[in-house]
Amino acid sequence: MNVGRLLESERAAVEAGLERLLPPGDAWHRRLNRAMRHAVFAGGKRIRPILARLAHAAAGGDPDAITLAACGLELIHTYSLVHDDLPALDDDDLRRGRPTVHVAFDEATAILVGDALLTEGLGAIARYPEGASWAPGRARAVALVAAAAGALGMVGGQMEDLEATGGVDGPDAAERLQRIHRHKTGCLLQASVELGAVLAGVEGSGRERFARFGERLGLAFQVADDLLDATATAGEMGKSPGKDEAAGKLTYVTLYGLDRTRRILEELEAELGLLARELEGPDGALGAVASFVCRRQS
Ligand code: IPE
Ligand code: IPE
Ligand code: MG
Ligand code: MG
Ligand code: MG
Repeated sequence: MNVGRLLESERAAVEAGLERLLPPGDAWHRRLNRAMRHAVFAGGKRIRPILARLAHAAAGGDPDAITLAACGLELIHTYSLVHDDLPALDDDDLRRGRPTVHVAFDEATAILVGDALLTEGLGAIARYPEGASWAPGRARAVALVAAAAGALGMVGGQMEDLEATGGVDGPDAAERLQRIHRHKTGCLLQASVELGAVLAGVEGSGRERFARFGERLGLAFQVADDLLDATATAGEMGKSPGKDEAAGKLTYVTLYGLDRTRRILEELEAELGLLARELEGPDGALGAVASFVCRRQS
């Protein structure tokens, strides 16, 4: 499996879907539309919609049938980045290789861009794929993504991340760290995998297997993000490095150090290989993307 080529063709499908979902930059309201497009069309990896498409294919579906719903996940993810970068949260000025929305436009616009992307993202998942036969799948998908992105999911994780900033130690630090990562990042990644499966009609223990793979992948994704923050350059990542330690964030690197974090990630990669094999057999696309996530350089 050539994962580079796979991701390239997957990304092309996602870019085309995103273009269909977002209003053009010269339509009303121009400033809002331009700011949304600034955030979205800036070279993100598109991992969430790609996972949804690949999970759908692994469950026997046609990935092209669910691209617009999968792109809804990318809009929700992009909202979370725009808000994560705001001065009141992580206060970052670089994202996806560009000035963040509050720097390129202003803070109020960045807040509204987040509001719009979240709403449009959920709307896309509620509407697509079109047609009566998809209605039960759409209802399940919108409910699962709303739960993953909401107070008991991503937003709760962001709240605890902020609360843990500035120094956490003691016996419950490891438990808090897992909970933060599981929620702020893991929930939406798990939901992406589950959305693909659910739209293929997978329920019960089959769905559980996809959910478990997504859950471990979500944790690995944020462990890799912590590692990159400590080791990669702005040029590689398209965002500023070294922010976690400077801000006193609770991360795998700040709690365990680089070497142990690398070992944890290797263990997660091995576990993900086994979980992917259960879903799709050996040498499948989900396994390849899981390895990519664990070894990524950006
Ligand atoms: C960054 O997500 C924020 C985290 C949840 C770690 P990605 O690494 O997926 O960012 P993009 O979408 O590729 O820019
Ligand atoms: C972000 O975690 C999680 C969400 C955006 C929900 P980080 O704060 O570590 O993400 P980056 O490093 O800014 O992309
Ligand atoms: Mg953050
Ligand atoms: Mg951040
Ligand atoms: Mg980070």
